[in-house]
Amino acid sequence: MGGLRETVESIRKAAARSVSAASDEKSLEAARVEYLGRKGRIRDLMGLLAALPSHERAEAGKLINDLKDEITRAFDERRGAVAAGARKPAGPVFDVTLPGAKPRIGRVHPLTKATREIVDVFARIGFTAVFGPEVETVRNNFEALNMPLDHPSRDAFDTFFVKGRQDLVLRSHTSPVQIRAMLASKPPLRIVVPGRTYRPDTVDATHSFMFHQVEGLVVDTHITMADLKYCLDMFAKGYFGPGARTRFRPHYFPFTEPSAEMDVSCIFCGGQGCRICKKGWLEILGCGMVHPNVFRAVGYDPEKYTGFAFGMGVERPCMMKHGVNDLRLFFENDIRFLDQF
Ligand code: PHE
Repeated sequence: MGGLRETVESIRKAAARSVSAASDEKSLEAARVEYLGRKGRIRDLMGLLAALPSHERAEAGKLINDLKDEITRAFDERRGAVAAGARKPAGPVFDVTLPGAKPRIGRVHPLTKATREIVDVFARIGFTAVFGPEVETVRNNFEALNMPLDHPSRDAFDTFFVKGRQDLVLRSHTSPVQIRAMLASKPPLRIVVPGRTYRPDTVDATHSFMFHQVEGLVVDTHITMADLKYCLDMFAKGYFGPGARTRFRPHYFPFTEPSAEMDVSCIFCGGQGCRICKKGWLEILGCGMVHPNVFRAVGYDPEKYTGFAFGMGVERPCMMKHGVNDLRLFFENDIRFLDQF
């Protein structure tokens, strides 16, 4: 009987330790089976009863039953605590008062921004932006624009050809999209065409084999050079500021007649003449009245319709506006540069 008492005592202690060591439902269940299961320690104790003299059995049986009740209660309590703990978040509680970790958010590229600003100015006077493919047919890039093969004007538009093809190029301007737009609809037309263009120029501070343009086209009855000048002067004031003045110099383009280049009064010196401008003027874009042959190429009647077109690069005006002195900065993806816009 004394030996049994000792055994009961040691099982009580061991069970208490197991119960408090169990930190989740799985380990708690394993411990419960060890003590209370069909082949558990309590069961083993019961087996010892038969070997005791009969007058001791009742007392020994009570001892074992009390132990069993005690252990059962301990397990039930612990199970409740473990279940409540499982509902709490693991690890330290999140401190909602801590300042958050800011994710690095990108921003619109300066050239995309400049393109949007230019397009926005034209949108205010009713122009719609249209887009076209960067791989173009020779027909759209040259022929339909009154630049037949062997015409010397093509030299000015040195071009990347698609390997193994004589009919496909990387467009050298966005003018071919104007051809597409005219083929797709009847006049009146008032569009701007932003996009990427390609010419095999050697890369330096002011040149790249890839650059951006915004071109524009207006077609209707009775469109004159006065409309051209009004729209483009308005653009200059809208993009460079209300103080901007414009002047038009005669020029040559195969797809317009007459043609001109437009200069804007220097935004740095106000037209006085400085290091950056040519005697007070900055060259901004080419323009002119649409050549009758261009209308013929798209099936518009040149006796009925007239129109004007213009084209400008995006990089140069953007560089001027922000005082950027090297075009390559736009394409190097240096965050320190891009973050300034
Ligand atoms: N397409 C010409 C260029 O890329 C620009 C231009 C467009 C000039 C329309 C006149 C009229 O240089």
